Amino acid sequence: MTPPFASLILDVADQIATVTINRPDKLNALNRAVIEELGAAFTSLASQPEVRAVIVTGAGRAFVAGADIAEIATAASSPAGLQAVAAHGSAVFTQIERFAKPVIAAVNGFALGGGCELALACHVRVASTHAKFGLPEARLGLIPGYGGTQRLPRLIGQGRALQMILTGDQVDAETAARYGIVHEVVSPEMLTEAARSLAKSMLKNGPLALAHAIAAVTGGAGLPLEAALALEAEHFGAVGRTEDMREGTAAFLEKRAPTFRGV
Ligand code: COA
Repeated sequence: MTPPFASLILDVADQIATVTINRPDKLNALNRAVIEELGAAFTSLASQPEVRAVIVTGAGRAFVAGADIAEIATAASSPAGLQAVAAHGSAVFTQIERFAKPVIAAVNGFALGGGCELALACHVRVASTHAKFGLPEARLGLIPGYGGTQRLPRLIGQGRALQMILTGDQVDAETAARYGIVHEVVSPEMLTEAARSLAKSMLKNGPLALAHAIAAVTGGAGLPLEAALALEAEHFGAVGRTEDMREGTAAFLEKRAPTFRGV
């Protein structure tokens, strides 16, 4: 599957790709086709050297209002059942989490269920004051299936995560910021600019350093501390063998701005 997509808008400007989930009449609910397109979009962006960061956002008044409930209801009675649905969505979200370039969620509205989980799979999150976060699956007799029961407690602690999962209540952007789900809350008009400015502040740094930092953080998260520290040392060693590292340290010592080439 290659662009153009039916339910995504892909746009690249100034080395930053924006992936807009574009199914506004269904509040960007994630059906199988959207998940497949998301996976294909990230596969395509991985091989575009001119793209150095990605912003994920939603068209209209929602970021993503969850997995497509109509499709979930049908899939539950299929032979593979919901486990296959979860495996498919989770694989794509893990692809996003492990993406070697920074991925920023610009949360413009409802980020519920799979939408909240999509935002959690991104590396950082900025939100507009209109954003609402929640994992309402239990209200449907379900549980989060695209990583929510694992990524949310790792990010904000088990107690608060269970509070959100067991009540199914939505929290507003300010509360999400207080919980540590979101790093910045801005007016709706400023959301794109805030996400782009965050991306630009990352792009000043060496692309290989960014890739190794993401791999160390996301790869180490599930490991015991000793193994995670060994993984960090491996990545530290690997960046140490790059031209970018030599350029970055030389530029500091020569009191000039570095020019990173990603080698
Ligand atoms: N799956 C499928 N369709 C969805 C959807 C979802 N997760 N979320 C919203 N939609 C659809 C609605 O069915 C409606 O479609 P219709 O116009 O064809 O009837 C359309 O999007 C607009 O949603 P609506 O409910 O009318 O908007 P609202 O402003 O009254 O409510 C929400 C907004 C987000 C509170 C409400 O849509 C909602 O609760 N959505 C489900 C959230 C959820 O449980 N997510 C987890 C899924 S596992």
